[in-house]
Amino acid sequence: MKKPTLVNHPPETAPPQGNQPVIAPIYQSVKYEFETVAETLRMLRGETPGYFYMRASNPTTRQLELTLAQLQGRDDCLATASGVNSIAQTLIALTKTGDHILFFIETYGPTRNIIRRLLSRFGVEHTMVSIEDMAGIENVLAARPTRLVFFESPTNPITKVADIERLVELAHRHGALAVIDNTFAGFHQHGEYDIDLFVHSLTKYASGTGDVMGGAVIGKRALIDDMRPDFAVLGALLDPHAAFLIQRGLKTYFVRYREQTRAAQSIAEHLAAHPAVAKVHYPGLASHPQAALVKKQMSEAGTVVSFDLKAGSEAARRFSERLRLFALTASLGSTESLVMAPQLMGSRDFTPEQVRQSGVAPGTVRLSIGLEDLGDLISDIDQALTDG
Ligand SMILES: Cc1ncc(COP(=O)(O)O)c(C=O)c1O
Repeated sequence: MKKPTLVNHPPETAPPQGNQPVIAPIYQSVKYEFETVAETLRMLRGETPGYFYMRASNPTTRQLELTLAQLQGRDDCLATASGVNSIAQTLIALTKTGDHILFFIETYGPTRNIIRRLLSRFGVEHTMVSIEDMAGIENVLAARPTRLVFFESPTNPITKVADIERLVELAHRHGALAVIDNTFAGFHQHGEYDIDLFVHSLTKYASGTGDVMGGAVIGKRALIDDMRPDFAVLGALLDPHAAFLIQRGLKTYFVRYREQTRAAQSIAEHLAAHPAVAKVHYPGLASHPQAALVKKQMSEAGTVVSFDLKAGSEAARRFSERLRLFALTASLGSTESLVMAPQLMGSRDFTPEQVRQSGVAPGTVRLSIGLEDLGDLISDIDQALTDG
C-alpha cells in the first residue's frame, strides 16, 4: 500500500469484541458500507439494521434519539439541528395546502413566524387565540377542520400553564393532532398525557452548558416513521458531534433541573416580597393563576422566573444591565443565569389587544436561573433592584 493509499485506508484500531468503551464514541463518518450491494439494499429497504449516509441516520445521533424518546415516554424521536428546526420540519411534515393550524398568542416568536409567515406562503391556514381562552379554542375547533393544535406549557415568558388534558381531549375530539413544545417543562414531564408529538429545543436543558444547539421531535413510532422521509430530504439531522455533546449533557439533566428549579423557587419567592416588584410569574408560586393545574400536571415548576417591575420598561432595562451574574441574552436552561430585558422580548407582530392578552407588561423581565450559589444570585438581584 503506497502512502497516499494508506492515509485513505488507515490501520483498524477498533477495540476487540468484549472490550467496550464506557462512553460511546462519536461516529464521525458520513458513509457506512456493507460488503455487498445486496446487503446494502436490504438495509435501505429497512429489512436489516444499519447505516448508509449520515444525513439519514448515524449511530451517535440515533443513541441520543432513543434516549430522548424514553425520557419523554414515547418510542421514537428525530433529532435536528436546532429547536426551531424541529418545529419547522414537524409543521412542514404534518401539513399541506388548505390545512388549518390552531396555535396561541403565547407561542414562542419564531414558531409564530413559521406558522404565520412561512406556512401561509404554502396555503396552510391558521387561527391564533390565547391559551387561556378555552371557549375560543372550542369554538375554533368546532367551526373548522383542524390538522393540529400547537401549544406550549409553561409559556414564554409569562409561564402560563395550558390545561393539557382538556386541550388534548378537545383536539382529538375534533380530529386534530396535539403537538406541544415541551422545552420549558423538560423531557420528564407531560409524558402521561395523550400528546401526539413533543418538540424540544435541546439547546436548553438537554445540553445545559449552552455550547451546542439541537432540537428533537418525539412521538409514537408510526407517526415519527411517517415524518421521517420529509425530515431526511430537508437535510437537517443533528450532527453526531453535537449529538455527543448533548448526550453528555443529559447525564446531569435531572440533577440540574432539580437544583435550578429549587433556586428558581427561592428567587421567585424573594422577588414576590420585594417592594419594587408588581407581579412575579412562576408556576411554583401559590399565587400563580393556575396553581391547581400546576400541582396536577407538573412535578417541577422549571427554572424560568419572570416578573414585572412597578417602575416600567426603563427601570427593567437598568435592572437587566446592572446584574453582574446574569448574562443579558437569549436562551434558558443553562448552568449560567441569564436575563432578558423587555426591550429584547419583541412581539412586533402583535396588535395592542394581543399584547395585552400575552400578559407581557412594559416592565416584564425574564430570568433563567442557573447553577450558581443561590445567595450570590439573590445578592446580585438585590443590588440590581436598588435603583440609584
Ligand atoms: C420554547 C422554545 N421553543 C423553541 C426554541 C428554539 O430553540 P433553538 O434556539 O434551539 O432553535 C426556544 C428558544 O429559546 C424556546 O424558548
